[in-house]
Amino acid sequence: MKKVAFITGAGGYIGGETAVTLAKQGIRIAVCDINPETIEKTVKRIEEIGGEAKGYVFDVTDSKDVDRVVDEIVKDFGRLDIMVHIAGGSARIAGPDAKYVSLVEQEDYVIDKVLKVNLYGAFWASRAAARVMIKQGEGGKIINFSSAVGINGLAGCVDYAASKGGVISLTKALAKELGPYKINVNSVAPGVVQRPGEDTDTKRTLETNLLGEKCLASDIANLVEFLVSDKSRFITGQTYVCDGGRTLSMKGTD
Ligand SMILES: NC(=O)c1ccc[n+]([C@@H]2O[C@H](COP(=O)([O-])OP(=O)(O)OC[C@H]3O[C@@H](n4cnc5c(N)ncnc54)[C@H](O)[C@@H]3O)[C@@H](O)[C@H]2O)c1
Repeated sequence: MKKVAFITGAGGYIGGETAVTLAKQGIRIAVCDINPETIEKTVKRIEEIGGEAKGYVFDVTDSKDVDRVVDEIVKDFGRLDIMVHIAGGSARIAGPDAKYVSLVEQEDYVIDKVLKVNLYGAFWASRAAARVMIKQGEGGKIINFSSAVGINGLAGCVDYAASKGGVISLTKALAKELGPYKINVNSVAPGVVQRPGEDTDTKRTLETNLLGEKCLASDIANLVEFLVSDKSRFITGQTYVCDGGRTLSMKGTD
């Protein structure tokens, strides 16, 4: 029986690459995102390599909408084995006027949005997936996206740091709850992954890691591939950093 993965943010840069990478492993992919256009692109990429995928438009901040989508996925694919919550981002996800400013200057709506997508989204997606996996009785894999910033903090990103730090704590506690059901719960913490179309900022992408190279979406997707595979059977409650060593040297706004 081919496994089924529910991936949030699967229309995005890292999410799209992760969806394609898992599809190459024969995993059937529920491509979930708030953006219908990017969902279509990821579904097309998967179909082009002979994989199986279906797109779902949803808002991960709305628990009822998350439950609805998971119900639909189970109806469409017949099961659910993997959940990867990748939807997220820093202040930019609150809209074009949102600013990267210190907490004392930050506006309510930015803090609210960042926490809702990154952290509340992890709650809703993990809970909906775990309910299905427990009922199915065959174990499962839950991965939530944290960030190197969730470990070390970042000035101008207190909301983001706290939301991603929350994901790390959620991962530990949920691993304790779901261990008896053979559901592995882990988290992935990327460093700086430059999205296509973003300005090339050499200092951020090259000089803040120890390898002097850019992190690619595929570097993160490969880590997820391992964590959702049988090879990670005995790993749970952990956060895996993929940042070229950036967390060893972060300070201030580096
Ligand atoms: N790019 C980096 O440098 C970096 C570093 C550390 C962590 N991360 C984390 O990796 C993840 C993916 O980042 P990315 O760089 O690919 O960003 P991205 O913007 O390309 O992808 C994020 C996706 O989330 C979707 N999304 C946003 N709000 C949503 C909502 N309410 N409901 C459903 N979907 C929603 C967006 O439409 C988008 O497709 C994020 O959680 C981010 O915080 C990224």
